[in-house]
Amino acid sequence: MAFPKSCFFLLLQLSAAAAAAAAAAAVVPSFDFKEATIAGIQSAFDEGRLTSVQLVHDYLEQISSYNPRLRAVVELNPDALSDAARADRRRLSGLAVGPLDGVPILLKDNMCTLGRLNTTAGSLALLGSVVPREAAVAILLRRAGAVILGKASMSEWSAFRSVSLPAGWCARSGQGRNPYSADSTPCGSSSGPAIGVAANMAAAALGTEVDGSILCPAGESSVVGIKPTVGLVSRAGILIVSERLEAVGPIARTVADAVVVLDAIVGSDPLAADRTADEVAAAKFIPAGGYRQFLKADGLRGKRVGILRRPFFVYAKRSVEGAAFDRHFRTIRAKGAILVDNLQIENLEVILNAMKSGESADLLAEFKLSINSYLSKLVSSSVRSLADVIAFNKQHIAEERMEFGQNIFLAAENTSGLREAEKMAMEEMARLSAEGLEKVMVENRLDAVVFPEARASPVLAIGGYPGITVPAGYRSSGEPFGICFGGLKGSEPNLIEIAYAFEQATRVRKRPAIM
Ligand SMILES: *[C@@H]1O[C@H](CO)[C@@H](O)[C@H](O)[C@H]1NC(C)=O
Ligand SMILES: *[C@@H]1O[C@H](CO)[C@@H](O)[C@H](O)[C@H]1NC(C)=O
Repeated sequence: MAFPKSCFFLLLQLSAAAAAAAAAAAVVPSFDFKEATIAGIQSAFDEGRLTSVQLVHDYLEQISSYNPRLRAVVELNPDALSDAARADRRRLSGLAVGPLDGVPILLKDNMCTLGRLNTTAGSLALLGSVVPREAAVAILLRRAGAVILGKASMSEWSAFRSVSLPAGWCARSGQGRNPYSADSTPCGSSSGPAIGVAANMAAAALGTEVDGSILCPAGESSVVGIKPTVGLVSRAGILIVSERLEAVGPIARTVADAVVVLDAIVGSDPLAADRTADEVAAAKFIPAGGYRQFLKADGLRGKRVGILRRPFFVYAKRSVEGAAFDRHFRTIRAKGAILVDNLQIENLEVILNAMKSGESADLLAEFKLSINSYLSKLVSSSVRSLADVIAFNKQHIAEERMEFGQNIFLAAENTSGLREAEKMAMEEMARLSAEGLEKVMVENRLDAVVFPEARASPVLAIGGYPGITVPAGYRSSGEPFGICFGGLKGSEPNLIEIAYAFEQATRVRKRPAIM
């Protein structure tokens, strides 16, 4: 994609109002948007040091400098500047609606938006398709005053096309790159949201996760990712893989920023009269007063945190990661938490093997139902079913890089709904969770378990459990790694207290050296 060109095009489209606001912004003292927090952005807005229009300009400039290399952004919202100008006018009139007003945010490309942005899950097959509605999270963000800056790239179809699809690759924007280390994986599937936030292309972003798709890319790009309890955030209007296991959550540079975004997006779909079963179950977890009350610097005090030592924290002697985690465990203890070490999860080998745990069987069938339902509801589209997408790929061998294959598509197409085998798979995952994470947490009276961000996501995935990853260090190649705190459904208050206190005590995140 020719980004400098499209930015230029965007500038030409500036409305007169936005141009006037931009001119006004030029005379206010400069604001360093790099590593700016949402609270810092709000103070600068309030003190007249920054306007939303200026901030959008800063991020657009950053995108035009770094996106040709990093490929974090698929499309820019042509209306971002006029939306920002509206936020600036609200503020001038004393009508700012809250901590996200005027704050630019990227959405993963599987989240529907009305207006001029496409929603394609990274695939050329969906380019130009017209969606019937906005994602619930997009509606909620706009109500909170946020400016939707654009769509972030992703592993195409949330990595559900083929097992050989490179993490962070999609046909729309090519290979997303780790901003810290060009040779390292950005991880997927919410690669673009994590890369974009790490590279200061937006204040925050939204991703989705079934199994690692927020936690892993966030960790690999040294940012914070929250995978909430499944159902806590509505999936309505998102091209999801799985109704049962997929969560929607924020990616940001700090825990506090991620929590501010989480507060704006929790709850049910504003457009639906009825909540889904998962939403009904999760609604009781949403605390009155939101999640910001859990941003406590002493949030580790008295917490019982379990270490799943084997196989997750087994490192070669003198490894940078092993040393970093040992240091972090000492810090966690010094901040008043009780570490319960050497815990084992029953049947862990089965849980970590999607073919054995039932996860694959369930997801293949769910994906076909989910994608067919999504495609059938589009207002217009050249593909209407998974079978159509499979055929589209066969007709676009070069553009869709068919050397990566579509074996997951073919296996999913071969399923016929949630039948006996899938029901057994779901029961198996429920049993593994009850006898696994749930049992360990209850028996040891734990508030959270801790593991490296990239390896334990199936433990959380199969139970619909939440997790938060926080930057934990950098390997000698420069590639970041994260630490993940996970817990049972609805444990976000504890996880936020732990993650925030950990972050305040360690402050590991550094901006990428390339910028
Ligand atoms: C959406 O896709 C169409 C091609 O179908 C393209 O012309 C348009 O520019 C895209 N929208 C944006 C905001 O990039
Ligand atoms: C399709 O399903 C049948 C059984 O339901 C199985 O034997 C066959 O291998 C499957 N084919 C693919 C491509 O997964």
